[in-house]
Amino acid sequence: MTAPVIFSVNNDIGIISIDYPPVNALSQSVRQGLIDGVIKFENDDSIKAIIIRCKKRTFIAGADIKEFANAPLEPHLPDVVNRIEACTKPVIASLFGTSLGGGFEVALACHYRVALETTKVGLPEVNLGLIPGAGGTQRLPRMVGVKKAMEMITSGVHYSVNNFSSTDLFDCIFSSDENLDESTLRFVEELVTTGKITLSKVGEKTIVNDIDNWKQTLSLINKKSRGKEAPNIAARILQKSLGLNIAEGMALERREFLKLKESEQSAALRFAFGAERLASKTEFTATPLEVKNVGIIGGGTMGSGIATVFLSSGFNVKLVEQNEEALATGRERIEGNFESNVKRGRISQDQANSYLASLTTSIDYQSLSESDLVIEVVFENMEVKKTIFRQLDQVCKPECILATNTSYLDIDEIASVVTDPSRVIGMHFFSPANIMKLLEVVQAKKSSEQALLTAMAVAKKLKKISVMVGVCFGFAGNRMYTRYGREVQQMLLEGAKVAQIDDALTGWGMAMGQLAVSDMSGLDIGYHARSSVSAPKYDRGYFKPAELMFKLGRYGRKTSKGYYQYDENGKASNDPLVDQLISEKAEELGFIQKEFSDDEISQRAILALISEGLQLLKDGIVKRASDIDVIWLHGYGFPRHKGGPMFQAKQMGKNKLELQFEKLRQLESVEIWPEVDLSLVL
Ligand code: 3HC
Repeated sequence: MTAPVIFSVNNDIGIISIDYPPVNALSQSVRQGLIDGVIKFENDDSIKAIIIRCKKRTFIAGADIKEFANAPLEPHLPDVVNRIEACTKPVIASLFGTSLGGGFEVALACHYRVALETTKVGLPEVNLGLIPGAGGTQRLPRMVGVKKAMEMITSGVHYSVNNFSSTDLFDCIFSSDENLDESTLRFVEELVTTGKITLSKVGEKTIVNDIDNWKQTLSLINKKSRGKEAPNIAARILQKSLGLNIAEGMALERREFLKLKESEQSAALRFAFGAERLASKTEFTATPLEVKNVGIIGGGTMGSGIATVFLSSGFNVKLVEQNEEALATGRERIEGNFESNVKRGRISQDQANSYLASLTTSIDYQSLSESDLVIEVVFENMEVKKTIFRQLDQVCKPECILATNTSYLDIDEIASVVTDPSRVIGMHFFSPANIMKLLEVVQAKKSSEQALLTAMAVAKKLKKISVMVGVCFGFAGNRMYTRYGREVQQMLLEGAKVAQIDDALTGWGMAMGQLAVSDMSGLDIGYHARSSVSAPKYDRGYFKPAELMFKLGRYGRKTSKGYYQYDENGKASNDPLVDQLISEKAEELGFIQKEFSDDEISQRAILALISEGLQLLKDGIVKRASDIDVIWLHGYGFPRHKGGPMFQAKQMGKNKLELQFEKLRQLESVEIWPEVDLSLVL
């Protein structure tokens, strides 16, 4: 194996090259290599300047996340960056790709920074529950002012280097068609030969305090961070650093960094980072098919959302509807989606026009004959879906993958009407499809490896996170969501109030309360979905409050009344009548009402998720516990800094889980809280 850091010389310039795939992360060996390179060239009298560059896909993308689980190894990154800054010969960082976290901190410690114009830089540590740990909170404000540094550090967003053209952060930005290595070398040679090269140290500058109202800034960051501690800690460090020199500031930063590294939030966020990347990995080895032409059947909200996603990712889309009128409405919806993206500044009008140029429409299934992938997105009716798949079987080319976007229905049954069921899979998008990142790729009994891997590869192009799941009612996500909803319903019957439940769940970290979500998605939709399967006999209160709302015509937002009432501007307020009606229903069903604490509510809802997640693992619907977490993080607004329901199970540990489940079994029954194999997750 070649060394991850190698040294070479070009005339009087020393070059330190990092080659540590996939993203040149700062592992111990890379850190050591950087120190060795600096010392080697510093001691070589023939060398006038040193370039730090990277090979392959990117400049250093950060500290090596894999090392965070263990005790830090020497040389520590703060010492490495300080050694670079202290070098007696000018060091130049040559950036491309994504220079993030520790990578950007290395660049900030160099005496010069040059970059290709396509480079992105950032300090995304907060996304891992951390703060920059190698001078980022100190050197960045010295270069761009504390206001911009605050924005970058507390948001974790990656910025194009072009954002900094009015600052001294970059000494030269090369156009994307230039050869970075050659341009960097020319830039350095010029400085050396003209004698203009200096040893300007970022750490010796003073921080410009360009924030007028600190109180307001800190409170805004607190609001935006929604329970995440790292952005708040970073903000306070930036404030405290105003009067400190670089050594004092870095000592403060390091203390907080090391504390956060041991925190539960950081463990959860680092876990989420790994789980997302693992989700797309399978044991399958087939080669995915090339997909260019995609057919979408159904131009409703979901179908047009899916079409928008495909068009935005460069696919040709053929939208098929039952008649010209529905087709026109579908097209309008897609155009509306692009229009809104233009209004929000996400894309330009020219981009929108070019995407729309790849959209064609038809009412004739025959028009799908050249499609590589067809996704059926019509309403949830088995017979309708089977009729569509029979037609697809006739018109589509044999290798075309046939996917259904059903949320609940049995894909094996749908596949049974097709001559070759191996090409039938589920592609379950989440609503709104052009926003939500999750895609459940559903493996039916006869789905081929190739069809599944093609869907996963397509998902990657769509910038979605795909998770492979098996067939059952609701697949993984909605099956768990049903169980979660059931628990909320049960707590309503046992005496918890509508607003209290939602407040307890959002207070715990969920993006929305379960009852507010039901109102948004429509109580009629949930009612009809549940009607297609029989209610469990042992569960006497099964979705009774929801049924009550449905029977009263309270479908949620669409009827201005559901669990909440809505004014003409859509603003929700509590409706005391609902709590009263539920309480009467509970009495009629023989429930004894009691007071709930917020903790009890959130814990019970999470335990329901864990219980169902364990059943999914046992049934083989999901292969990895971490896949369940990815589904919940990206499909259901589970707080990322809590890792996901199965991560929570691990945090609770065997004893606590067993005790809690046993209590609930006593309260309800073993059918509702079945015995579970905790080894599947612990
Ligand atoms: N350490 C170790 N491995 C990393 C890594 C890191 N910092 N960043 C990415 N990787 C690995 C991924 O796990 C993945 O591995 P795999 O191929 O085995 O699944 C591989 O690199 C490619 O990553 P992606 O699939 O994410 O590739 P993309 O091209 O989509 O994205 C990226 C590349 C933008 C660099 C993205 O991976 C990313 O955002 N990485 C995290 C960057 C980060 O958070 N840096 C800060 C780290 S903390 C820090 O530096 C602390 C310091 O202040 C002391």
